[in-house]
Amino acid sequence: MSDITNRPRRLRRSETLRSLVREARLAREDFILPLFVCAGSGVRREVSSMPGVFNLSVDEAMREASNAFELGLRAVILFGLPEAKDEIASGAYAEDGIVQQAARAVKRSVPEMLVIADTCLCEYTSHGHCGVVRRGEVLNDESLELIARTAVSQAQAGADIVAPSAMMDGQVGAIREALDNEGFDQIAIMSYAVKYASAFYGPFREAADSAPSFGDRRAYQMDAANAREAMREAELDYTEGADILMVKPATAYLDILKMVRDRFDLPMAAYHVSGEYAMIKAAAERGWIDERRVMLETLTCIKRAGADMIITYYAQEAVRAINQS
Ligand code: PBG
Repeated sequence: MSDITNRPRRLRRSETLRSLVREARLAREDFILPLFVCAGSGVRREVSSMPGVFNLSVDEAMREASNAFELGLRAVILFGLPEAKDEIASGAYAEDGIVQQAARAVKRSVPEMLVIADTCLCEYTSHGHCGVVRRGEVLNDESLELIARTAVSQAQAGADIVAPSAMMDGQVGAIREALDNEGFDQIAIMSYAVKYASAFYGPFREAADSAPSFGDRRAYQMDAANAREAMREAELDYTEGADILMVKPATAYLDILKMVRDRFDLPMAAYHVSGEYAMIKAAAERGWIDERRVMLETLTCIKRAGADMIITYYAQEAVRAINQS
C-alpha cells in the first residue's frame, strides 16, 4: 500500500469533477465590449493591428451593440473618433459629440445594454494628450474642468457609467461633484484608478487615433515598476467616490489586481488592453498557439486574480465560447 493520503488528482479525474471544484468561472455578464465610434454612416473599418476590431459609424455601432446583446453581452464601453480635434478637446463634451451620439443611439435601440463612456480628452485634443497642454506640460487642474464637463455631457446623452481614464489627480472627485450638481447622482464612476504608462496600448492608439504628437504619457500614467503607488492611487479614487476601481493593463499586472482586490471592497474591473489582444491574435495567426484556449485561459486568470468584470476586445468570442460549453 502507498503511504500517500492526500491525492489532489482525485478531483481532476473528469471534466465533471474539475468543474465541481473550479474556483473561478467566466460568465457572459463579466465582459465589457469596447466600441470605437467614428463619423459617417455604414462605416465598418477594421483596425489593422487588431483583427476583429472596427471603427464603426453610429449606425454600425448600434448594430454591433444589439448583436452583442443578442449574444448575451450586457455592457459596452464607448470611445470616440471625432471629425475634428482642437487644443481644448471640444469634441469630448459637445452635445452632438461622437460618443454622445452613440450613447443615445445604443440606449434607444438596446435600452437594457449598459453604456459606459470612456471619459478622457486624448481622442479629442490636437496634440493627443489626455489634458490641456501649455508650454509642453499637461496641466492638471485646468484639465479637470473639461473632464468633468465631458462626464456630464456623457450622462446627459444616457451613459449609465462614466469611466475617467486621463490619470489627472482629483478627476474622480471633480466628476462626482459635477455629476451631482447636474442631478446625475445615480450615474456611477468606474475609475481607471491604476493605469500604467504601458506599451501595451499601442494598437489602441491606432484604433482611436490618439497617439500623443509629442512626448509620452509618463508624466501622468503610472510607472510599471510601482505597486505601492498603485495602492495610493486606488485609495485616492476610493476616497473621492469611485464606484468601481479598474486596473489596466491586466495580464502583466495581475499582482496589482490582487493587491487592490485584497485591500478594497469595491467592485473591480480589469482592462485586457489592445496589445494583450493583438499578441494573442498575432501568435494565433501564425499557428503558434491555440487562440481559443489561450483566450479563455487568459480571461479566467484575470478573474482568478480578483476581477469582477473584464473589458476585452475578446468579449464576443469569449461569450461564444462560453455559450458553446
Ligand atoms: C484613453 C485610453 C487609452 C486606453 C483606454 N483609454 C489609451 C491611452 O491611455 O493611451 C487604452 C486601451 C487599450 O490599449 O486597449 N486615455
